Amino acid sequence: ATSLFSALIFIIVFVSSVSTDQTRITAHPGQNTSLPCRSPDNKPVAVVEWIRPDLGSEYVFLYRNRKINSDHQHPSFKGRVDLQDRQMKDGNVSLALRNVTTDDRGAYECQVIQRETNSRTETVFIINLDVLPPP
Ligand SMILES: *[C@@H]1O[C@H](CO)[C@@H](O)[C@H](O)[C@H]1NC(C)=O
Ligand SMILES: *[C@@H]1O[C@H](CO)[C@@H](O)[C@H](O)[C@H]1NC(C)=O
Ligand SMILES: *[C@@H]1O[C@H](CO)[C@@H](O)[C@H](O)[C@H]1NC(C)=O
Repeated sequence: ATSLFSALIFIIVFVSSVSTDQTRITAHPGQNTSLPCRSPDNKPVAVVEWIRPDLGSEYVFLYRNRKINSDHQHPSFKGRVDLQDRQMKDGNVSLALRNVTTDDRGAYECQVIQRETNSRTETVFIINLDVLPPP
């Protein structure tokens, strides 16, 4: 009974540490990088919003109504971002970021809105990008 109990404790600790885990990506200036994000359960994706809350209300990247919308895009990302896979195969909504600069350092939020006939699901993922000086 004691070993079953400690196995249960182990599972609880393990699961809680996984759910608080955040993705960390490291890049160097001038590199192209990718911020990984995946739509849960591969359901139809209606909206993909990539934002950096510290930059205000402008988007890093916005996909809505079946197209990329750059009307309210933050100027520092213009021409540098795209979906890594435009087909979003298997719910892949990772962001391709070109020519990284030290100003790109920060916490990015990937918000996915899935819409089905009778439901709407919103999920937010946090991806931390660290930009290190060239070696
Ligand atoms: C980054 O991507 C662009 C366009 O996809 C390419 O032209 C360029 O060579 C890439 N840069 C590096 C450092 O890989
Ligand atoms: C997303 O798609 C890109 C380009 O096809 C691929 O390189 C990357 O590994 C994919 N990421 C995931 C999480 O499937
Ligand atoms: C990459 O960004 C730097 C400054 O941030 C700029 O000087 C350079 O021209 C850019 N390179 C490309 C290939 O766009």
